[in-house]
Amino acid sequence: MSGSKIELHLHLEGAAPPAFIRGIAAEKHVDLSGIFDAQGHYAYDDFDGFLRVYEAATSVLRTPRDYARLLAEVLECSVGQGVIYTELFISPEFCGGADLAAWRDHLAAMTEVAERARGQGIDSRAVLTAIRHMGPDRARQTAICAAETALDAGGGWVTGFGMGGAETVGQATDFHWAFDCAREAGLGLTCHGGEWGGPDSIRQALALGCTRIGHGISAIHDPALMRDLADRQITLELCPGSNIALGLCRDWAAHPIAQLVDAGVRVTVSTDDPPFFHTTMRHEYQRLADAFGWGLDEFNRINKWALDAAFCDSETRERLR
Ligand code: ADE
Ligand code: ZN
Repeated sequence: MSGSKIELHLHLEGAAPPAFIRGIAAEKHVDLSGIFDAQGHYAYDDFDGFLRVYEAATSVLRTPRDYARLLAEVLECSVGQGVIYTELFISPEFCGGADLAAWRDHLAAMTEVAERARGQGIDSRAVLTAIRHMGPDRARQTAICAAETALDAGGGWVTGFGMGGAETVGQATDFHWAFDCAREAGLGLTCHGGEWGGPDSIRQALALGCTRIGHGISAIHDPALMRDLADRQITLELCPGSNIALGLCRDWAAHPIAQLVDAGVRVTVSTDDPPFFHTTMRHEYQRLADAFGWGLDEFNRINKWALDAAFCDSETRERLR
């Protein structure tokens, strides 16, 4: 199977191990016991419950130092999974309330960590991520944070803008202003779509100018859309373990990843929020190998597609090939 992996879709807040969150909560005397099960894992029943637990866990991350510690732990974990390049989805709405000055402080602390981690074998970039159910006004503020810090000293670590959260709330096109602002700042664009919504939700994300789609699995129901995705070389950031854990796919064999590849769609593999879904990059690759007989050729191909679609400069891309 593949050695070096490229991960394009990893929520920093969603990658926080439960023990890490418990440690920070204890330091701040916050009682978070309600969000863990008897084994100490995050406990939720459905996607709404997932979002609630996610936001409760994230609420204890309050300072630039908290975020720096989290990033250090997450990048170390990614190195252990054989990941050499990762894009972290980070929501300024959580760190600092999408306030530009607060975001700058958080970013400065994180870029130092990212710089150190580069020396330890992992390159990273940040995709600032608006949260759809918080509405277009907050997304605007997030886009301003992204646009204003895209070229900051610290080496241009912020290279993308995206949107996650509850996909069935509103229309993606309500967020035009935010995506236009990010595009004008030269940022790469991605949006969660076709995870909980149908093919039209993917079309809306494309109308926002996205070159990548977070999940996008509902494209499987629309041959014309799949042809369009293939023709335009739009890349899907697939997270099969997430889809299975959240009940969108029955099991690994039922995941549409192999059919999407057969239809000519560029797919990549990521973990989304690994401790929430009891997954890791190695686990994803192993389950895909088991379910579809994938080996080195298939994994090399998805990693090539991932690098092609990465929101990084061409020098970095060529160095990682
Ligand atoms: N934020 C974190 N994980 C997410 C997911 N799977 N879908 C939408 N928003 C998210
Ligand atoms: Zn996601």
